[in-house]
Amino acid sequence: MKSENLESIASKLVAAGKGILAADESSGTIEKRLKTINVPSTEENRREYREILFTTAGVREFISGVILFDETIRQKTRDGRTFVKALEQQGIIPGIKVDNGAKTMANFPGEKVTEGLDGLRERLAEYRQLGARFAKWRAVIAIGDGIPTDTCIASNAELLARYAALSQEADLVPIVEPEVLMDGAHRIERHFKVTQQTLETVFHALFEHRVALEGMLLKPNMVLSGKDCPQQASVQEVAEATLRCMKHVVPAAVPGLVFLSGGQTDLQATEHLNAMNYLDHVPWELSFSFGRALQAPVLKAWKGDSANVADAQMAFQHRAWCNSKARFGKYTAEMETAKAA
Ligand code: 13P
Repeated sequence: MKSENLESIASKLVAAGKGILAADESSGTIEKRLKTINVPSTEENRREYREILFTTAGVREFISGVILFDETIRQKTRDGRTFVKALEQQGIIPGIKVDNGAKTMANFPGEKVTEGLDGLRERLAEYRQLGARFAKWRAVIAIGDGIPTDTCIASNAELLARYAALSQEADLVPIVEPEVLMDGAHRIERHFKVTQQTLETVFHALFEHRVALEGMLLKPNMVLSGKDCPQQASVQEVAEATLRCMKHVVPAAVPGLVFLSGGQTDLQATEHLNAMNYLDHVPWELSFSFGRALQAPVLKAWKGDSANVADAQMAFQHRAWCNSKARFGKYTAEMETAKAA
C-alpha cells in the first residue's frame, strides 16, 4: 500500500540520531553561497561541491536523507555514478525540492507566494523515477509593518497542501516547509504568534486536502527573536517557546519535525536543537533539515580547492555528528573541538 510506504520513508528520515542535509539550493542561491568563498558558480564547480557532501564516508550514521535540486538529481560523481546511486549506496534517502521559488505577491508589498504547481504532477512522476523518495516545498512568511497578511498566509498554506497531496499521490513523502523568517527587529513573542497562526492555517489546509499526516514531515522554523531585536532570547527560551508553539498546533500524527536553520549560525542551530531534545515530552521526533547550518563549515574548509576535499568532508562529518548528538539532547560545547566519533 502506498501510504505504508510513505510512513516507512517518513520514519526512516527521522530515525534516532539522524537528520536531513538540505543541499537543494537553487541556481541563484548556490551562486551566492559559492561567492562567499570566491568560487564561480559553474556547473562543474556546483557538481564538485555537491560530490564532496554526498560522498563523505561515515555521515550515513548521522544523515538520513539529502534534498537535491533539479540540476543535482541529474548529475554524477566523478566515477560515473548518479548522485542518487551514490547516496543510496550509503543508505541515504534522496529527496527533491519541487517548488519554483518564492515570488513577489501581486498587490501585497513585502510578501511572497511560492510558485510551482503547474506541471507538478508530471515533474513528481519524473523525480520518483529518477529515485527521489521525498519532496520539499518552501513557503516564506515575512514579519514587518502590517505583515504578514491573512491572505499571504492562506495562499501559501493552500499551495503547500496541494503540493503535499500531489506528492503523496506520486508516492513521495512531502516535507511541508512554511518558514516564518527571522529577519526584523521583532521580539520572540511576535515570532511565536506568527508561527502559530501560520501553522494553524497550514494544518487546516492539509486537512481540507486530505493529506495523510502520518506520511509527511513538517519543516518548521524555530521560534526566535528577530535578527535585529536588541533583546535576544536565550537558548532555553527559544527551546521552550518553540516546543510550546508546536504543541499548540502540530497534530501528534505527524511523525517528525525537521527544523530549518534559517540564518542562525551553525552553533546556534545545534544548541537550540539540543535544548529542545533535552526538554522533549513531545509526540514527534525533533530533528533537523539544515542547509546553511550544515554547509557553512564545509564551504569554509573547501574554498574551491581540491587539495582541501578531505578537510571539507571532515568538517561536514563533524557538524553532522554534533547535530546527531543534539538529537539525543547530548550535545556539549566541548564537542566543537573533539573529533567526530
Ligand atoms: P537553511 O537550514 O539554510 O534555512 O535551509 C533549509 C532549507 O532547506 C530552506 O528551504
